[in-house]
Amino acid sequence: MVLARSLLVAASASLVVLPSQAVGTSELQSVLKNTHGGNEYGYPTDFTRGIMPIPVHSHNDYWRDIPFYTGISKGCISTEADVWLYNGTLYVGHDESSLTEQRTFETLYVNPILDVLKRQNPTSRFVTSPTKNGVFDTDTSQTLYFFIDVKTSGPETFQAAIDALEPLRERGYLTTLKDNKITKGPVTVIGTGNTPLDMVSPVTSRDYFFDAPLESLGDAKYSDLTGLVSPIASTNFEAAVGRLVSDALSEKQLDALRSQIQTAKSKGIGARYWGTPYFPIRKRNFVWRTLLEEGVTLLNADDLDAVAIYF
Ligand SMILES: *[C@@H]1O[C@H](CO)[C@@H](O)[C@H](O)[C@H]1NC(C)=O
Repeated sequence: MVLARSLLVAASASLVVLPSQAVGTSELQSVLKNTHGGNEYGYPTDFTRGIMPIPVHSHNDYWRDIPFYTGISKGCISTEADVWLYNGTLYVGHDESSLTEQRTFETLYVNPILDVLKRQNPTSRFVTSPTKNGVFDTDTSQTLYFFIDVKTSGPETFQAAIDALEPLRERGYLTTLKDNKITKGPVTVIGTGNTPLDMVSPVTSRDYFFDAPLESLGDAKYSDLTGLVSPIASTNFEAAVGRLVSDALSEKQLDALRSQIQTAKSKGIGARYWGTPYFPIRKRNFVWRTLLEEGVTLLNADDLDAVAIYF
């Protein structure tokens, strides 16, 4: 998907014979197949052309062939990086054994996100004031949720992540909180894992948020917590709702699910469940459908091809 346009241009550049001169070639089919790579068929923000955003979180995104890019090529509006801080550098990976010098927060996420946003926010004589388009060309107001899963010591690692986001901050690409008001930007940063709540909630002016525990939002500890701190809260599906014995939710499980989503909604918080069943497919799809019907903000998906087809 990412390479589609440059591939098309490369292929059409080698065509010398005009399609209309070929015997037996249907005219419209020729035009569709070969646009001669003409400038009139490309436009500045066509990098993510034709990709429809879907309410899906690309879970363990750094496992994909091309982290970040694969997820947006499927339309996922949410991505995730597990970050480890060593000697001042943030590395990305599932565990210590998978870390390398090359796979850093900067190379796999910050730089690629910045690159896409630069493409989606070009300057030209037609653009009269600076734009804040998101990564999706089909819906420029759609924010990209960016979950930063802190794996090493919370305070130091999350601070390093905040600092590493500076290039995005500098250009005004981050969703911000100021004067108790959220201003949506192309990227909404949400700290999870070891992210300390007290590095987020007391800070009145900031451009990062907190992934609260969805099933505990009713607890006294979180009574003051709203969407200003946690735009999306998450929990493990089995732990919070229960294990599905058949392809259906019991009355009790459905009640638990509804009450968790409602409690979140009443605080202006969206819901995400991870650890949903992925097999058999019938059960997986039943859970996805139920979660969407009940109003979750994001489905959590490991198999992006499957979830893209599902939508
Ligand atoms: C961190 O720095 C120390 C001291 O220079 C070095 O021994 C260690 O291997 C470094 N660790 C990593 C993960 O780079």
